[in-house]
Amino acid sequence: MAAKMKIGILSAGGDCPGINAAIRGVGKTALLNYGMEVIGFNNGFSGLIDKDFRNLDEASLSGILTMGGTVLGTSRVKPFKSTDENDLPNIICDNYRSLGLDALVCIGGNGTQRTASMLSDIGLNIVGVPKTIDNDVWGTDTTFGFDTAVNIASEAIDRLHTTANSHRRVMVIEVMGHNAGWLALYSGLASGGDVILIPELEYDLEAVCERLVERSANGKPCSIVVVAEGLQHPHPNKKTAGAYITKKIKKMTDLDTREANLGYILRGGAPSPADRILATRYGTKAATLINEGRFGVMVSMQQGSISQVPLSDVCGKLRLVAPDDKMVLEGRMLGVCFGRKPGEPQAVRPAEG
Ligand code: F6P
Repeated sequence: MAAKMKIGILSAGGDCPGINAAIRGVGKTALLNYGMEVIGFNNGFSGLIDKDFRNLDEASLSGILTMGGTVLGTSRVKPFKSTDENDLPNIICDNYRSLGLDALVCIGGNGTQRTASMLSDIGLNIVGVPKTIDNDVWGTDTTFGFDTAVNIASEAIDRLHTTANSHRRVMVIEVMGHNAGWLALYSGLASGGDVILIPELEYDLEAVCERLVERSANGKPCSIVVVAEGLQHPHPNKKTAGAYITKKIKKMTDLDTREANLGYILRGGAPSPADRILATRYGTKAATLINEGRFGVMVSMQQGSISQVPLSDVCGKLRLVAPDDKMVLEGRMLGVCFGRKPGEPQAVRPAEG
């Protein structure tokens, strides 16, 4: 009789809807299908450093599928970047071994997968699960959290559309996404954004204002401008991208302009059904990989199939919107302004890791 495997789970980085579904997917598959023992570390990697954990059994996994946030808590503690005089990676290794762990599941975005890859490199059995509303994790077509955030953003932009329409205004809406423009691109297209500005594409304020003035001159009652928070602008330490664009539109046109920043609302509340399913499937895959003894990988969605990629391939990269992304090209065909004048070539911002 093979010895019972013991696995740990942690969630790290910015929270998002779906993490609890992933925890449940890993945990229930491990417990029920593979007879494993499961513990959950509290507050990301700090739980592993402080041996702050809880046992996860069927009862503790019950009822969390539809819950937002993470029942384990999270943090942005980065063991390999810490200025702490303690050798945190070694402490983690010691705790991993003294707890008798056979594997560790790290649920997180880019930073978490980077830490996971480095822990794998020093000998721990690691499986990564990609999560973030930003959808910018390399190696997977999508992360859970993204679909829910697109739903939240789209519903909010629809609401802002009606008030902009009533007041004949330009409404500038900033959405999260860190250095990627996926959330702005998808929610902007879903809500009929007239202008969508993303970090990956250079923009010309003259072109933006010309489009807005042209729309107003043609009798359009309002305009919707969706701005990704990571959009480059001259005063990043003084104002948000949305505030900068709003100020410039007011200065360069006579259009009545207001701004709304959706911020953390995009990370709150229950996961969409699609994210519940994706997170659950990622979790089940992670437990299966562990049972097969396959480590140093991150589960992923590739062309519609659940698979896995080496963590070393993911580490240090960002998945950004390509300038020829089909959604950008189709948006242009619909008349969406991405920050350049019609027919003009659009410069591309170099990707930042
Ligand atoms: O990575 C998710 C995210 O929400 C980004 O979109 C955003 O820039 C960042 O986290 C905010 O980080 P924090 O929650 O630490 O303020």
